[in-house]
Amino acid sequence: MKKIKKWQVIVAVLLLLLMFAFWYLFMGSKISDVSSEVISGENGTRSLVVYFSRAGELSDTADATASATPNSNQTMDGSDTEAAAKMIQQLTGADLYQIRTERSYRNAFWGTVATAWIEEKLDMRPDLAAQPENLDNYDVIYVGYPIWWFNAPMAIGSFLESYDLTGKTVVPFCTSTDNGIDVSMDYIRDVSGNAEVLEGYRVHNSSLEDVSAWLERIGMLEETESSYDTEEYEPEITDISPKESSFGYVTEGTEEYRGFVIDNVFHSANEGDIHYNVYIPESYNGSEPYALYFTLPGYEGLYFQGVASNLKSEEFGFEAQKYNSKMIIVAPQLSDWGETSANQTIALVEYFLEAYNIDRSKVYANGFSGGGETMSQVVGKRPDLFTAYLQVSSQWDGEYETVAEQRLPIYFAIGRNDEYYGCEPSQKAYDTLYSLYKNQGLSDAEINELLVLDIKEHDYFTERGMSNEHGGGDLFAYDEEIMGWLFSH
Ligand SMILES: Cc1cc2nc3c(=O)[nH]c(=O)nc-3n(C[C@H](O)[C@H](O)[C@H](O)COP(=O)(O)O)c2cc1C
Repeated sequence: MKKIKKWQVIVAVLLLLLMFAFWYLFMGSKISDVSSEVISGENGTRSLVVYFSRAGELSDTADATASATPNSNQTMDGSDTEAAAKMIQQLTGADLYQIRTERSYRNAFWGTVATAWIEEKLDMRPDLAAQPENLDNYDVIYVGYPIWWFNAPMAIGSFLESYDLTGKTVVPFCTSTDNGIDVSMDYIRDVSGNAEVLEGYRVHNSSLEDVSAWLERIGMLEETESSYDTEEYEPEITDISPKESSFGYVTEGTEEYRGFVIDNVFHSANEGDIHYNVYIPESYNGSEPYALYFTLPGYEGLYFQGVASNLKSEEFGFEAQKYNSKMIIVAPQLSDWGETSANQTIALVEYFLEAYNIDRSKVYANGFSGGGETMSQVVGKRPDLFTAYLQVSSQWDGEYETVAEQRLPIYFAIGRNDEYYGCEPSQKAYDTLYSLYKNQGLSDAEINELLVLDIKEHDYFTERGMSNEHGGGDLFAYDEEIMGWLFSH
């Protein structure tokens, strides 16, 4: 009898392993009970909401529900993406359809992750269990999905590419842990054929009002009483130079400092003259919505201390550019640390939202030291204007209830022995917001998504060459964990 060689055994074992891996990753159980019929919305609607969610992709076992991602959009039941889809369906009266693949993904999170990774890398198109025969009855297709591997799941391509979308409008929306929808937009445009693809939206910790504001902004919903004037926020090709607006007009600065045009003055109709420095990326031409970041100065940043003194003493406005190249950055120089400056900041934010093409889902703020006192008042008065707020080496002077109602994500960073404030006021603000969220019935995990208290020990500062913890607050501008948190929202 012929002797089996060692290498033959190795090859046989490898083949068996490969077959097992293929079976595990791509041969999940068949998904049954899938209909090609849509769930009907309002009579005569010409819109359809389609969505894909991991919750619909798990095999029908007891732990399928436990394996699904918690829903951040508490307004509706269902998985994260399902809840987002239902919010849009409720607001627009559209028909609804869930995209399901022919085979389930594995219930084990890492099983799904591995399959999704291979599918994304190989640009695969998984077979679908069913789908509507055609989309002839629709002009607008809202397409919802969780971000998978910095992209939309490949099943979205399977669905969209199977139709001729000429003349239709595709409106993408996503859910995710960290990433914005921008990571998936190239792919969505690719698989949408001849359709017009509108600005997408990440539905995360969102209320119906948030979603409705986005739909109004992109012209998909009639204006409602409670929200902004759609005219004001309709994306349009804007001139990049400052404009006169209903809120006032601007006298532009003539000098630059490290890419910022300095000493601009906004003559606010209600708040008087407001001085600010602004960085507008060269790529901005108004055709595409850009993020907006307001950074309020620390102890050397008021206007009387000298033009651009805030930019010369802090790095927040410069470091921020590394996180989003499509972001307008405003560094105001105000009059005090109190309410006057808070109202001026609000007026200036409103002006920018009106005069520039801004992605309303990416409006960020930070305040350092006295600027944090001011900015806490700003976000307390108008939490609806912002996506996330970073408070650095400061104390909270603003309202709490409004912020908790809006569920504005907030990060408090401070040294344990901050010479000016101590860390206690930050602890108190954090605790107060925490208990308000507890009263709302949020779980600890959900609250931790919204609130971070980051108290740094003295070593943090000395290791980076600073002995003073308060002045060392500027070091947070370089801290990728802190700045990354802000700009990942
Ligand atoms: C396979 C897989 C890959 C993921 N990749 C990302 C990612 O790249 N970025 C991100 O922010 N979230 C990622 N997530 C998190 C999901 O986008 C997030 O949990 C989403 O809310 C899930 O919605 P669903 O429960 O409706 O499926 C991933 C989740 C899974 C299962």
